[in-house]
Amino acid sequence: MTGTGGTSGTGTGDTTDAVDAARAADGFREVYGPAPDGVWAAPGRVNLIGEHTDYNDGFVMPLALPHTCRVAAARRDDGVLRLHSGEIGSGVVQLDLDTLEPRGPVGDRGGWAAYPAGVLWSLRAHGYRVGGADLHIESTVPVGAGLSSSAALEVATAFALDELNALELTPEEIARICRHGENDFVGVPVGIMDQMASACCTAGHALHLDTRDLTQRQVPFDLAARGLRLLVVDTRVKHALGTGAYAERRAGCEAGAAALGVRALRDVPYEGLDEALARLDDPEVRRLVRHVVTENRRVEETIRLLDAGDPRAIGPVLTAGHASLRDDFAVSCPELDTVVESANAAGALGARMTGGGFGGSAIVLVEDAVAERVGTAVASAFAAAGYREPRVFEAVPGGGARRTG
Ligand code: GLA
Repeated sequence: MTGTGGTSGTGTGDTTDAVDAARAADGFREVYGPAPDGVWAAPGRVNLIGEHTDYNDGFVMPLALPHTCRVAAARRDDGVLRLHSGEIGSGVVQLDLDTLEPRGPVGDRGGWAAYPAGVLWSLRAHGYRVGGADLHIESTVPVGAGLSSSAALEVATAFALDELNALELTPEEIARICRHGENDFVGVPVGIMDQMASACCTAGHALHLDTRDLTQRQVPFDLAARGLRLLVVDTRVKHALGTGAYAERRAGCEAGAAALGVRALRDVPYEGLDEALARLDDPEVRRLVRHVVTENRRVEETIRLLDAGDPRAIGPVLTAGHASLRDDFAVSCPELDTVVESANAAGALGARMTGGGFGGSAIVLVEDAVAERVGTAVASAFAAAGYREPRVFEAVPGGGARRTG
């Protein structure tokens, strides 16, 4: 795709975009000498509801954060990819495109360079003629916090390579290519939610996405106008999806779908849940299935409430989603549970972990008037339990990936 935003809107702040782009361009010049051909930005995300449903062909509802990853890039014609991160003082990583192998040395190293390299590999694996590039990367998306810093890096890289090579891909194609890179080059079996969120979200909206066919609806999500806020609480417990637990959950869901004779758990209707559960012998698979089917239902319920103009009423749906992720899907952790319990006890409307789990972040829906009290209550609960101090900020839905400089 060309232009500055495609279907993604122009983001949360053109001034901020311009300042960030100028900084990234300066960083590029310091590393490589000449000016870049352009700067592209892609956001991290939080997911409002619909967790661990995307690899079951289900529904999700993420919103983009104002935090972005910026890629300042210039085309090269010699088949060499050079990568430099402004955050990680690791020097320039130089790769020869013809030697990039899936799960080879670059992917296996598991470091940040695998993600942009995987995007380039995936583009070529899809038959696109892509030359080399010099990339300088800067990001404000917290790493390892379950806020999709990896997807932001992938999508910003893909937007840059798309334009540098005049490919004119759609944001959906870009999301698919990025996910393929992460699955097959880096070797992490994620679904498509994070890449779609980063590529397709628009400012002021949550993205209602059907992950089976990628049909989308931008749902207005202006909490401030209703006297509400969505807080993000980063527990600072490192979340690493590369570990086996995510893949295990995914395999368990696939086993459940196979046992029930459906293509994916999305095809188990909520009304037929009890009957489906009765047909499953393995108690662990039964719990996974129950989570996915009820979670898809919670996405529908959330949409219904938002469409009815009743955002306060989604609070209990969020909290029910957390209980399901904690008890049935078993992907929470004591710190995430502490956020949810202490926030709700202090008067929040609802709260849940967001993203893959095993650490990372939670979201909390609060009335303006109690936001501060809730934040303080969560921090005190963390201190009392001897956990690291959490990082709390407000999520205002930002724009999707775009050219910024
Ligand atoms: C991670 C993955 C997503 C999704 C979530 C859980 O963020 O990258 O694809 O599966 O976990 O909803």
